[in-house]
Amino acid sequence: MNKPVVLVAEELSQAGLAVLGADFEVRQVDGADRSAFLPALSDVDALIVRSATQVDAEAVAHAPKLRVVARAGVGLDNVDVEAATKAGIMVVNAPTSNITSAAEHTVALILASARNVAQAHTALKGGEWKRSKYTGVELDEKVVGILGLGKIGQLVAQRLAPFGVELIAYDPYLPAARAAAMGVQLVSLDEVLAKADFITVHLPKSKETIGLIGERELHMVKPNVRLINVARGGIIDENALYSAIKEGRVAGAGIDVFPKEPVTDSPLFELDQVVVTPHLGASTHEAQEKAGTQVARSVKLALGGEFVPDA
Ligand code: MLT
Repeated sequence: MNKPVVLVAEELSQAGLAVLGADFEVRQVDGADRSAFLPALSDVDALIVRSATQVDAEAVAHAPKLRVVARAGVGLDNVDVEAATKAGIMVVNAPTSNITSAAEHTVALILASARNVAQAHTALKGGEWKRSKYTGVELDEKVVGILGLGKIGQLVAQRLAPFGVELIAYDPYLPAARAAAMGVQLVSLDEVLAKADFITVHLPKSKETIGLIGERELHMVKPNVRLINVARGGIIDENALYSAIKEGRVAGAGIDVFPKEPVTDSPLFELDQVVVTPHLGASTHEAQEKAGTQVARSVKLALGGEFVPDA
């Protein structure tokens, strides 16, 4: 009897591949290359993706046998869950696999942005010893505004508290008492904008959050503010951020995610005040191991007709 086919459209950990290899025929394809990806869907039972593969209605229509789409990570914004559900396809993710890595990368970008680490590194390796140019700021006694106090936002709060910062957050779905128990004061978005020295985004990408931080918002912030985004590109409007930094209304930014990825030519790249990384929030050995094994197990359960618990 033929084994069910699992199509892995992006990098998956060896541990995840080993779980799958025991029971399924595992095929690999570059999910970002539509001309290869769409035809590869014709006879697959399961599909595993990260963030570069668009599992949209067109992809679903190319996959008549597909029973499960697994996202080796948290966000499901690259999967058309409605189209999949209509076609009877189960959608699963690995909701806690990379939250620690994302929180740690956020702290890395906050510190890198506060202390000009990337800029000074590039200058020194280019032969320039410039100490005063790269004078930074301390975190101690600063106000950090967290947009979205979900799993990752909470880990960021825990990790930043020992730096002596005041933590405030905007989260319309969390009761104020829950935030207070974590040492975070829940406030309105406008209050975060008016008070914070650092603003870090931990919201999912949705109709409500795309462009949440745009022209209006970037006219309300303190000029020394630094913005960090390890969540999703487009939640901070890139063009508005570019103008705000150029005009001295924002001091700097640490950006890991972009409206369109992969990207090699964002306007932000020309600004010395912006430190960027290529969507590395979840890119640690530990997170990839967890994501790979979690989704592999979920695919196994789903294809076996069994209940798939939240990981
Ligand atoms: C996530 O949503 O969990 C991350 O963006 C995963 C990834 O890096 O692909």
